[in-house]
Formats: sequence, structure tokens, C-alpha cells
Amino acid sequence: SLPVPSVQEIVRNDAKNIPERYIKNLEDRPKSSDNICPVSDDIPIINLSLLAQGDEDERRKLDIACQEWGFFQIINHGADGGLTKMKAAVAEFFDLPLSEKKKYGMATNDVQGYGQGYVVSEDQKLDWNDLLFLITLPPNFRNMKYWPLTLPGFKETIEEYAKEIQRVADEIFANLSLLMGVESYFLKQMHGDAKQGIRMNYYPSCARPDLVLGVSPHSDSSSITLLVQDDEITALQIKHKGAWVPVKPIPNAIVVNIGDVMEAWSNGRYKSIEHRAVTNVEKPRISAAAFVIPGNEVELNPLKTMVDDDGRPRIFKNGVKYIDYLRYTLAKKMEGKL
Ligand code: SIN
Ligand code: FE2
Repeated sequence: SLPVPSVQEIVRNDAKNIPERYIKNLEDRPKSSDNICPVSDDIPIINLSLLAQGDEDERRKLDIACQEWGFFQIINHGADGGLTKMKAAVAEFFDLPLSEKKKYGMATNDVQGYGQGYVVSEDQKLDWNDLLFLITLPPNFRNMKYWPLTLPGFKETIEEYAKEIQRVADEIFANLSLLMGVESYFLKQMHGDAKQGIRMNYYPSCARPDLVLGVSPHSDSSSITLLVQDDEITALQIKHKGAWVPVKPIPNAIVVNIGDVMEAWSNGRYKSIEHRAVTNVEKPRISAAAFVIPGNEVELNPLKTMVDDDGRPRIFKNGVKYIDYLRYTLAKKMEGKL
């Protein structure tokens, strides 16, 4: 069963009233003055088919995007079909009656399933979203009890999407490897027993977007994250030069961001940037974030090529295992919310 109510149901029953638990403290609420950025650039756009052809200008663009923004949008990725089907499958899942969705409810002490992330206390402020989180790769790591198998085609669609998005991720790893002065296979191999998890988000419309957040500010604990978002609604915002810069959707593009693991591996050259999502009064929004994560025992040691005593002092220490880092950040997160 769900630890907290479904926001989708709250809105269905009474769209006007925002329950107290979702109303952020004054200083945490989104304000229009948050978005005043000293520069007017949009986040960089990277052409994946050029990267795949070994285009060096495009690879340099990727380097700059990861250093200066930590975020970029991928076009020409060749995954359009799978992406469209995935979005439809996710929409179908959230359209199911609550009683049906609850069959896949996240168990206490689990991260997979239908529910809400990181609910740790009664007085914690909650985010305005419902989610379904599934480990998608490798196949033997899936927990099928959380997969809505009664929904025709859902499993096949997500399986196919997981493979396609991993191909995109691997192309990015190959290019980042070259940029970090190692062979193209290096970063993929560095993940050890890599996993992929997909967080599917449903953000209901909200009568008071000025009081709530779809997702509170955070950075991702992945190596990279590949996000597919609604084609029209602008909701994701990233921290850039002190402002919250909105990521304007490009239809069928994939928004990629550097996670904490890649920041450590690159010894801070590439940045894991804080981001959040706001809501809107008009329409619900769906997004799906695929996280690539290393094996539990893999260490977050900066690549040797990224550390030298003159130009690039070590920022991240050796010997921190991914699983220990995860426990540490989760504990910090809980402290913050209590
Ligand atoms: C997230 O970063 O957790 C989700 C962002 C989004 O839905 O745009
Ligand atoms: Fe995120």
C-alpha cells in the first residue's frame, strides 16, 4: 500500500485545495524572480548522429556542455519510435484506476514500484507527483511484481525503450571517454555491473503552482540520466549561474544530465547540476528519467587522466564505493527533510 496518497487522486477529488503537506515553506517555493539569469543562452543541443560518426566539433560541444551546464538535449538519436511508444505506455499506466496501480505499490524499504520517493516523516513536505520506478537493466535485476503486466504491451515497450536509451547512453560514454583521454570503451567498462532504472513521473496540474514543486531541488546520484519529457510543457529547471533556467522542450529530444558519479570520475570537470520541476495550472505532465548507475562495489575514483598535481588537483578521494556513497547521500537527504 502507499505510504502517502496519490496526488493524481487528490486533484481528481478536489482540484482547488492544496493539502498542507504539499505547501512548501516560503523560502522553498518557486518564484518568477528565480528565473532571471544573467545570460540568455539555452542549454546546449547535441547531435548524436554526428557524435556517432566521430565528429570532433560535436564532441567538443559535448565537452563544453558537460563543463558549463551539466545538461544538454540530444537530437538525431534515432530512438523516436521507441520514445513515442514509451510515453504512451507510461500515460496508459497512470490512467489506470487507483486500485489497479496500487497492486504495484512500493513496499516500505523498497525503491521500486508505484508511489512517491523518499517519504521519511509525517511532517515532511511532499512533492506534487506520483511515480513508478522500475529497474530495467540488466533483465535479471528486474522485479516483475512491480511491472504492470496486465497492461497490454507495457513490458515489451519498456524493455525495448530500455535497450534503445542504453545505446544512446553508451554513445555518450564513448565520447566522454575520448574527451577524458582514455579509450572509448573505458567509461562503460568502469561501471562494472551497471544497472539502469527508469523513474516514470506523473505531475498532475495544480491550482497553485506558486506553492508547490513537482520535484524538489536535487542532483542525480547516477553516472548520467536520460530524460524524456512532455513535448509542450516547460517544467524542468536547472541551476545555472545562480538562476533557475527552464529547459524548453524540443519534441522528441532527450535531455541528458551529468550525475554525481560522472562528476567524481571526471574529478569535477563535468558537473552534476541541481535541478527541479515546477507544476502548472492547465495540464498534467509526464516524464521518464532513465538513470545509469554503476555496480555497488564500483569506486568513484577520478580517472588517472583527470588528476595531475599541477593543473588538476584531486577533488574526489579514492576508495569510495558507490553503495556507500548512496547510503551517505540518502542519509543526508533524510536529515534535510526532518
Ligand atoms: C527529475 O529530475 O527528478 C525529474 C525531472 C522532470 O520531470 O523533468
Ligand atoms: Fe533528477
